Amino acid sequence: MSDRPRLAQHEGARHSRIHGVGGYRPERVVTNEEVCTWIDSSDEWIRSRSGIEERRFAADDETVIDMAVSAGRDALEHAGISADQLGSVIVATVTHPFQTPSAAAAVTHALGAGAAAAMDISAACAGYCYGIGLADAMVRAGTSDYVLVIGVEKLSDFTDRTDRGTAFIFGDGAGAAVVGPSDFPGIGPTVWGSKGEDWDVIRNRESWIDLRDGAKGGAAPTEEMPWSYLTMQGQSVFRWAVYSMAPIAQQALDAAGITADQLDAFIPHQANIRIVDALVKQLKLPSHVPVADDIRHQGNTSAASIPLATRRMLDEGEVSSGGLALQIGFGAGLVYGAQVIVLPDPQTLPAPGQQTGITSSRGPTGYSGRPSAATPRTSVHEPKEHHMALSENEILDGLAEIINEETGLDAADVQPDKSFTDDLDIDSLSMMTIVVNAEEKFGVRIPDEEVKNLKTVKDAVSYIAGAQS
Ligand SMILES: CC(C)(COP(=O)(O)OP(=O)(O)OC[C@H]1O[C@@H](n2cnc3c(N)ncnc32)[C@H](O)[C@@H]1OP(=O)(O)O)[C@@H](O)C(=O)NCCC(=O)NCCS
Repeated sequence: MSDRPRLAQHEGARHSRIHGVGGYRPERVVTNEEVCTWIDSSDEWIRSRSGIEERRFAADDETVIDMAVSAGRDALEHAGISADQLGSVIVATVTHPFQTPSAAAAVTHALGAGAAAAMDISAACAGYCYGIGLADAMVRAGTSDYVLVIGVEKLSDFTDRTDRGTAFIFGDGAGAAVVGPSDFPGIGPTVWGSKGEDWDVIRNRESWIDLRDGAKGGAAPTEEMPWSYLTMQGQSVFRWAVYSMAPIAQQALDAAGITADQLDAFIPHQANIRIVDALVKQLKLPSHVPVADDIRHQGNTSAASIPLATRRMLDEGEVSSGGLALQIGFGAGLVYGAQVIVLPDPQTLPAPGQQTGITSSRGPTGYSGRPSAATPRTSVHEPKEHHMALSENEILDGLAEIINEETGLDAADVQPDKSFTDDLDIDSLSMMTIVVNAEEKFGVRIPDEEVKNLKTVKDAVSYIAGAQS
């Protein structure tokens, strides 16, 4: 035995929970009509493809730090915790316009949180769920008593108003939560991960180095320097979110020891209402479970969207404090994180020792936080092996079934000469869900770039038949 002194280590609380949530919504409402003065689009197109009716933009002189401080104060007040009780402040953001120092350090100072540890995390639209996972671990490891987690974005600064693929999606805002010790498990195990092979499907267009060197051919910086707007391959992101996030959400339920019908709320990241609807369908969420739909009035506020929706649902009585909510964030990286939480309200939370139903990650499952080996790292609908090759007629029947299920169209109307868009009125997002279902059903792979060549039912049948052989 060495006679070296033995180290002391922190020991934390047995359990953690969210003590309060807060939000900040900028004043300026930007309607779809206004967006249509920047891009060739329509209110009807934006609503039907994304669910967005309006979004909010921060004022020119309103910063990420300003919005974070407002949401942080609101969360502290909701929790009944003072700023000087905070041991750490975590700010999840991808739009703080300084690489260094962190937004968190300035926010900590502005809140009067003394010398609390302060850091920013870059996990895009998963940032809030990552932050809650970190804060849960910190409280239970004893590195902080109370942790303030803030998701904040000023996406209007990084949105190219001439880009039809992104100009209508993003909004600004901030949401926050105070995480601290608890007598009961208030935060289920965090299921998180990444898919770095798709690193570039949502990204800043130029790096700082590109900007320094002049992105257009190495010229020295000039007044016409490009700006590093966000770019997105919408179809690829849609496919990933719709078909890979439902199993992650299910794993968060399983890890917490909860079933979908025991939930009091589903609060997914507000990326697109079509993604939310698809997740609800795949999780087989009972209709009595309220589902966040803040995308309609906030747009996609990235790291801020889940806490903003949580606070609104609590304020409007859509969900009750003490209830169980499943939250899942996903976005650029690609990265994702999910957990079941007990909704906060100091007055009505379960009494000490009372069971909430959640299993925490120190619980009997010994849950590691990583998706299980059974979780597909790419798509849940990867082609299955050992499919029998089918005739073109059998493929047509199978495709008609899928289309019927996805759109409600009569299967008999799905004939080879029909065009998906003009005759069957199937839009590009429904087309993507049909494609992924067809991949699973027929055991083939239909790459994103191939989908736009499938104009008629016959095109799809022939492609699938060829890909089978
Ligand atoms: C952004 C998104 C709504 C775009 O929808 P889409 O169907 O993929 O759009 P596409 O670029 O394939 O274009 C489809 C058609 O709509 C048209 N279109 C594209 N943008 C348009 C706009 N803003 N207004 C009107 N029409 C538009 C295209 O010209 C194309 O028309 P065509 O079929 O006649 O050629 C969708 O891809 C999406 O929501 N993806 C997920 C994004 C997301 O959630 N990001 C955040 C993740 S954190």
